[in-house]
Amino acid sequence: MTQRARTAILISGRGSNMAALLAAAADPAYPAEIALVLSNREDAAGLELARSHGIPTAVVESRVFGRDRAAFERAMEAELHGHGVRLVALAGFMRVLTEGFVARWQDRLVNIHPSLLPAFPGLDTHARALAAGVRLHGCTVHLVRPGVDDGPILAQAAVPVLPDDTEATLAARVLAQEHRLYPAALAWLAAGRVRVEGAVARIAAQTAEGVLANPLPLPAPLPTSGARG
Ligand code: GAR
Repeated sequence: MTQRARTAILISGRGSNMAALLAAAADPAYPAEIALVLSNREDAAGLELARSHGIPTAVVESRVFGRDRAAFERAMEAELHGHGVRLVALAGFMRVLTEGFVARWQDRLVNIHPSLLPAFPGLDTHARALAAGVRLHGCTVHLVRPGVDDGPILAQAAVPVLPDDTEATLAARVLAQEHRLYPAALAWLAAGRVRVEGAVARIAAQTAEGVLANPLPLPAPLPTSGARG
């Protein structure tokens, strides 16, 4: 087999997307190998999970660097290079990266965002989707560009917004799709199947696998009188 792409996952918290990527990469046939989980917070719950899987971890506390984002990123890059990392996957990493960092990792830096971009970049996406009354919501995996939650889209999954949804129920429905979508999209990047043309990412040999639309099944029709079941 050709060499798997050594990948770092950057987290700030819970790490459920990280866990989905670790699970996918546990298969030796998966084209990315997780070489490092790096957190900007020592208390990120995902760190413990990564350690329990025997994955190398590092903490570069962003707090310590104050406003000096370049110094913070230099410290992170020392870890990335030290672990021979070629790809970086942001998974709930809640720091905005500088243009310099994004340029140095151009087309090797990928992010998951909990909305159907370009709708709802930034924070509180589920509350904003509910407030806007959209009927479809979802998640996006994209290559990172300097703008917040901007960059060529690799994959999206859509879910319905249901009339009685709360922020929590909608977030949970989206998160389940994030866990399917991110491993698929990272695999395309790691396998060298992504070609960028301006603002658009093309995936080589892509079939319908790239279009993950996931509406829930329609509710069963109400039973008519005499119906059994
Ligand atoms: C995920 O929903 C991810 O899409 C989102 O943070 C959550 C992290 O959860 N990321 C962003 O909002 C980035 N703009 P996780 O730590 O359980 O993966």
